[in-house]
Amino acid sequence: MLRKLSSIVFWVFAILTVAEGVDRSLFKTCDQSSFCRRLRKYEQNQSPYLLDLPHLEVNYQNIEVPLLNSDFPNVTLRLTLTAIVGNIFRVTINEVNGLHPRFVPQYALNGEPQVAKLEVLDKSAESLTVKSGDNKVILTAKPLKLEFFHRESLVSAVNENGLFAFEHYRTKPAESETDLQIKDDPGAWEENFKSHHDSKSRGPSAISTDFTFPGAQRVYGLPEHGDRLALRTTTKGGQDPYRLYNLDVFEYELDTTTALYGAIPVIYALGPKHTAGIFWHNAAETWVDITNSKDANVVSSLVNLVSGSKGEPHVDVRFMSESGVLDFFFLIGPTLKDAVKQYTSLTGVHALPQLFTLGYHQSRWNYNDQEDVQTVVARFDEHNLPLDNMWLDIEYTEGKKYFTWDQKKFPTPENMIQNLTSTGRKLVVIIDPHIKRESGYFLHEDALKYDLYVKNKDGTVYEGWCWPGASSYLDFYNPATRDYYKKLYGFDTFKGTTHDVWIWNDMNEPSVFNGPEATMPRDCLHYGGWEHREVHNEYALTHTMVTHEGLLLRSPHRRPFILTRGHFAGSQRYSAVWTGDNDAKWSHLAASIPMCLSEALGAMSFCGADVGGFFHNPEVELLQRWFQAAIWLPFFRQHAHIDTRRRESYLYTEEEINRIRMALRLRYAHLPLWYTLFWEQETGGEPVIRPLVYHYPADENVLDIDNELLVGHSVLARPIVEPGESSVEIYLPGDKKAKWYDLEDFKLYRAGSHRLPVNLDRHLVFYRGGTIVPRKDRPRRSSQAMRHDPFTLYVALDDLNSASGALYVDDYESFDYKDKKYLYLHFNFEKNVLSSKLIDKTDYATQEWIERIVILGPPPGITGAKLVSKSVGTVTLETFYDAEGWSLTIRKPGVTIREPFKVTLI
Ligand SMILES: *[C@@H]1O[C@H](CO)[C@@H](O)[C@H](O)[C@H]1NC(C)=O
Ligand SMILES: *[C@@H]1O[C@H](CO)[C@@H](O)[C@H](O)[C@H]1NC(C)=O
Repeated sequence: MLRKLSSIVFWVFAILTVAEGVDRSLFKTCDQSSFCRRLRKYEQNQSPYLLDLPHLEVNYQNIEVPLLNSDFPNVTLRLTLTAIVGNIFRVTINEVNGLHPRFVPQYALNGEPQVAKLEVLDKSAESLTVKSGDNKVILTAKPLKLEFFHRESLVSAVNENGLFAFEHYRTKPAESETDLQIKDDPGAWEENFKSHHDSKSRGPSAISTDFTFPGAQRVYGLPEHGDRLALRTTTKGGQDPYRLYNLDVFEYELDTTTALYGAIPVIYALGPKHTAGIFWHNAAETWVDITNSKDANVVSSLVNLVSGSKGEPHVDVRFMSESGVLDFFFLIGPTLKDAVKQYTSLTGVHALPQLFTLGYHQSRWNYNDQEDVQTVVARFDEHNLPLDNMWLDIEYTEGKKYFTWDQKKFPTPENMIQNLTSTGRKLVVIIDPHIKRESGYFLHEDALKYDLYVKNKDGTVYEGWCWPGASSYLDFYNPATRDYYKKLYGFDTFKGTTHDVWIWNDMNEPSVFNGPEATMPRDCLHYGGWEHREVHNEYALTHTMVTHEGLLLRSPHRRPFILTRGHFAGSQRYSAVWTGDNDAKWSHLAASIPMCLSEALGAMSFCGADVGGFFHNPEVELLQRWFQAAIWLPFFRQHAHIDTRRRESYLYTEEEINRIRMALRLRYAHLPLWYTLFWEQETGGEPVIRPLVYHYPADENVLDIDNELLVGHSVLARPIVEPGESSVEIYLPGDKKAKWYDLEDFKLYRAGSHRLPVNLDRHLVFYRGGTIVPRKDRPRRSSQAMRHDPFTLYVALDDLNSASGALYVDDYESFDYKDKKYLYLHFNFEKNVLSSKLIDKTDYATQEWIERIVILGPPPGITGAKLVSKSVGTVTLETFYDAEGWSLTIRKPGVTIREPFKVTLI
C-alpha cells in the first residue's frame, strides 16, 4: 500500500508533478548511480587482476589464494574457494587488512552451508585445477579467470571478459596512482567520497565480475522486476541493467529492468546441454547486465572462450554491487530443476503454511470499522462466496501507531475477532517498521530509551516521513531491538489479538517518503557500524524474521503467517510476498504470472498479486479474468487503494458474481493439491508453481512462454489476460504422446499449439496425462469448513493408461507434522488398478475419505469396479461414463485415506 497523497505535505510536490504513473526522475538510472556508471565504462579484456598461485594455501575446508591488482601493487585481496555439498562452489574475495570491514549478508543463508571435499589435481604458477565430485574448477593466474566444469564440460567462466573489479577502501588516491577506471570518469571519486559518511577514509568500494555461459540460450531469475520471465539483453539500445535495490515505487511500470520492492540476486543460465546458476550473496545496491548472443547486433564479447565455440550461443552476465564482500555461490546444475534446488538448499524453503493461508483473502485499504468487517463477511456468506481471511490496513491503528487500535472505529477488537473466527475465518493486520515519533507512544519511548532505532551518520536517531508523519525506523540488526520487538506480538502488548490474528509487514524496503529514492539514506548507521548502503536489500528480511520469532513466541503451536512486500534471498523462510502496488490494468494482470514465476525460481513460491489491481478501478471483465487467473497463484488476495470504489465480489450482477464464485470454488477444490505441493516444497525444495521451461527445458518452444504456468507438474493454466478474447493460443508441452485434459469437459488434447475458443466463463486449465490430482469438490464457505470433507481423485491417464499422484494431509495448522502426525499418500494407476499406499511411516487420525474417483481418458467397456481394503473388505462399486466417454466416474468408494486400498476396473 502506498502513500495517501493528501496527507503527506512533503510528498505532495513530488507527486503532483506526475499526472499518472511512476515519476522516473525519483529513481536512479545506471548513469545516475555513480558506481554503475563507473563500472559500466570498464573496457573488456584489460583485467589487471592476477592470482599469486605460488602463495596458494590448501586448507582442510577450502583453498585460499592472494589476488593482486597490477595497478595497485600494495593492495592484497584474498580469494577463497569452497566446495559445498550438492554441486555448489562458493567463491569469496575480500580485502586483506582493508581499512574497513566489508559486509556479508547476515540472514540470507539458511545456516552455514555444508562444506564438501575439495582436491587439488594440478598446480603451477600459471594455473590451478581443483575437483569436487564430478565438478572441477580451473583457476588461471594472469589475468584472473575461473572456469567451472561439470563432468569435463565447461559450464561457465568468470572474468572471461575481464570485467572483474574490486574497488578497495583507501585514503585519498595518491597522485601517482593510476586508477584508469576512476580517471576515466572525473568526479567519480569526489562524488563517491562525498556520499560516504566518513570522508576521512571511505571511498568507492564497488565490486563486479562477469560470468560467461557457453551454450546458454536464456537466463531467468533476478526477481523482483515488472518484466518478462526470460531476461532481456541489457547491453544494447541504451538500456539499463536489471537493478536490485528494494524500493517503494509509486505506480510501477512494466517491461522494464528498474528496481521494485524485492531483490533476489539469483540467476539461471539455461542451455540445451547444461543449466547453471549464480547466487550473488550481496545486500547492497546491485545492477546486472545481460548479453544474450541471440539478440542480433550484439557484438560478441567472447574473444577467446576456451571451448573455442565463439559462434555458438552464449550468455554473458555481469553483476555490479556498490559495496560488500565479493561472494557468490556457483550452482552447477546440470538442469534448471537442480540449480533451483541448489539455490533453495542454501537459502531455505517456505515452511508448510497453515491451510487457511491458501484460501481466499479479502483486503482493502481500509475496512472502515469493526461493523464493516462483520458485514463484508456476512455478505460473502449470503452469496456463497468462499472466504478465509479478512485484512486490516493501516487505518485500524490509533494514528498509525502500530500495536494499537483506533478506539472509535475498532473499540472492541476482541469482539470483532471473536465474531470473525467463530465463522472459521482469520484476521490479518498490518504492522510496518516505521514508528511514529510521538511522545507518549510506548513504542517510540521505549525505542529511544533502549536505543533501538537506525541512526544518522552523526549517531543521532534518524528521522524520516512515512504514514504517521515524523517517524523513526527500528534497527533489526540490533539484538536488543529483536528481543524487544518480538515480544510486542504477545497478547499482553498487542491487545485484543488472538491465535487467529496474523501479520502483514509492509513498507519495509524501507519506504521513507522524503528519503532519497523514497528510501533510507545510504549513510544511515545500523548496529555494528554498518552503513545502510551495505544492508539495504536485507532490511525487509530482518523485519519479517523478527516478526516470525514474535509469532512463534506468541503462538508456539501454530505455523506463523506473514506477508511482506520488501524481500531478499531467504525471505521465503518467514513470509509470503505479493507484487506490491499494481494497477487495475490488463497489463498488470498479465505481468502477475511472470513476476510470480520468477519469484518461484528464487525459492519464493508463496507469491500473488492484488486481485483487480491496487490502484484505480478495474472494469468488470478485467476483475473476472483476474479471479480466474489468480486462483492459480499460491497467494490469493484482493486488495485495493483507499481511493478506489468498493469491489467486494458480492457487489456485481448475479451473472458476474457467479463467474467469480466458480473461480473461487475451483481454487478451493484444489486446496488439497496446493497443500500437498507446499509440503513437497518444504521437503524437496521444488517450487510450487513452475514455468514450462522448468519441466520441458529441451523444448525450444517453451523458453519464452510466461503466460502459462504449471501448478506442480499436474495442472497447466493459461489465464486470459486480454479483453474481449474469443479465442486464444495455448501451447501444451511434451512429446508426441503427451496427453492433456481440458478441465471444463475432460476433452483430450495432444501436445502442441492449439487455438481454442473462449468466452467469459472459460478457464483454460488442463490436467497432464499421467497425474492424479486430489480435490475436495463440495462447495463450502471456507477451508475450515472443508476440513473433514471427502476427496475426489482425478486420474488423468497417459499414453500407457497409467497415472500417479500424491496427497498430503495433517491437522492443517500445528507443528505436529514434525512429529510424524501426517499422512503422505501415493496413488498409482496401472493396468486398470488404482492403488493407494502411505509413503512415510506416519499416522494422522483424520476423518477424511474418498468420495469419488474420476478417470480421464478411461478405457472403454468398463461396467463397474471392485474396491479392496482392510476395513471395507471387498465391495463392488458403480461406474458411469460421461456422454462422450471422456471420463469414467467411480461412485462412492467410501474408503478412509488412512489405510491402503485398491480399486480395480471391471
Ligand atoms: C607501497 O608500499 C611501500 C612499502 O610498504 C611503500 O613504501 C609505498 O609508499 C607504498 N605505496 C603506496 C602507493 O601506498
Ligand atoms: C458480533 O456479533 C454480535 C452478534 O451478531 C453483534 O451483536 C456484535 O455487534 C458483533 N460485534 C462486532 C464487533 O461486530
